[in-house]
Amino acid sequence: MTTTPSGCGIVCCRACGSKSRAVLDVLVHGVTMQENKIMMTQANRQGWDGLAETHFRNYHIDRLVTGTPLINDVIRREVGDVRGKSLVHLLCHIGTDTLSWALLGARVTGIDISPESLKYARQLARQMDIEAEFIEADVMQVMEHVKRKFDIVFSSIGVLCWIPDIEKYARTVRHLLDDSGFFTIFDGHPFRSVLLDADGEASAGSTIQGDYFRKEVWHYDTMGDYTDPDLKVPVHSFEWHWTMGEIITAFCDVGMRIVFLHEYPHYTYGGYSAYNESETVELYPCTFSLKATAR
Ligand SMILES: C[S@@+](CC[C@H](N)C(=O)[O-])C[C@H]1O[C@@H](n2cnc3c(N)ncnc32)[C@H](O)[C@@H]1O
Repeated sequence: MTTTPSGCGIVCCRACGSKSRAVLDVLVHGVTMQENKIMMTQANRQGWDGLAETHFRNYHIDRLVTGTPLINDVIRREVGDVRGKSLVHLLCHIGTDTLSWALLGARVTGIDISPESLKYARQLARQMDIEAEFIEADVMQVMEHVKRKFDIVFSSIGVLCWIPDIEKYARTVRHLLDDSGFFTIFDGHPFRSVLLDADGEASAGSTIQGDYFRKEVWHYDTMGDYTDPDLKVPVHSFEWHWTMGEIITAFCDVGMRIVFLHEYPHYTYGGYSAYNESETVELYPCTFSLKATAR
């Protein structure tokens, strides 16, 4: 493996095994690129299975089960009123955001590849007496399995770095949307990744460490955790990087209409919190949100 000075993936830098990042040189020869992507995704799935129990302990579940939605104010304002709407949450993990939308009045479905994560999501739904459906699937395969349409397709915080094909992701979003529906995403800004050092931390002085236009898949030899720095799941993990241009163009190419693209100077890792954890204002975009209607 060759180490690279480039930065981490879209947002989950703290989820990565630090000091072990490498450009991908483990492609298995004799299988197609598509098969390699599936193998990398399955490796990531094992990592998320290994983190689920810790997240169930460390996320703010106590607040959720007593009726407080765990969705930060920016996302809540931008998505708007969800009452009576059908909402599908892609990459829903242990279901905390999905069930938060249910508390706010949506009819919810969550999709995730990790059976361990979904075990906790279903357990939480039962505990909260919420009718929610959780589907175990690789989001890249969802078009084959889910034929229903939804008013809202939602995903947030730690999403696009796990997606091996941004164009297929956009096609999947469009496939799931009713013609009058919309998609929203809130995620780490791809620009921030060029500032991350080999430990996945934003460099002091914000100097550029890596290539914004990189095409390599980043390979880590463990899956680390953003809620417990000491936890390293002993499986390989892989992250992709999409520039803002690639993200926007993918949704334009499937005929969707961009309503807004907002860029924020805060690194708001609110994936497991109702509250904005960082009030620090940087000189560069740290997170972004995008809303696009189906047509
Ligand atoms: C950072 S979490 C999602 C963040 C979410 N806001 C949260 O913390 O509740 C990433 C999730 O993506 C899921 N995931 C990764 N790759 C996937 C894929 N190809 N298809 C479906 N789910 C995937 C993982 O299993 C994990 O649950």
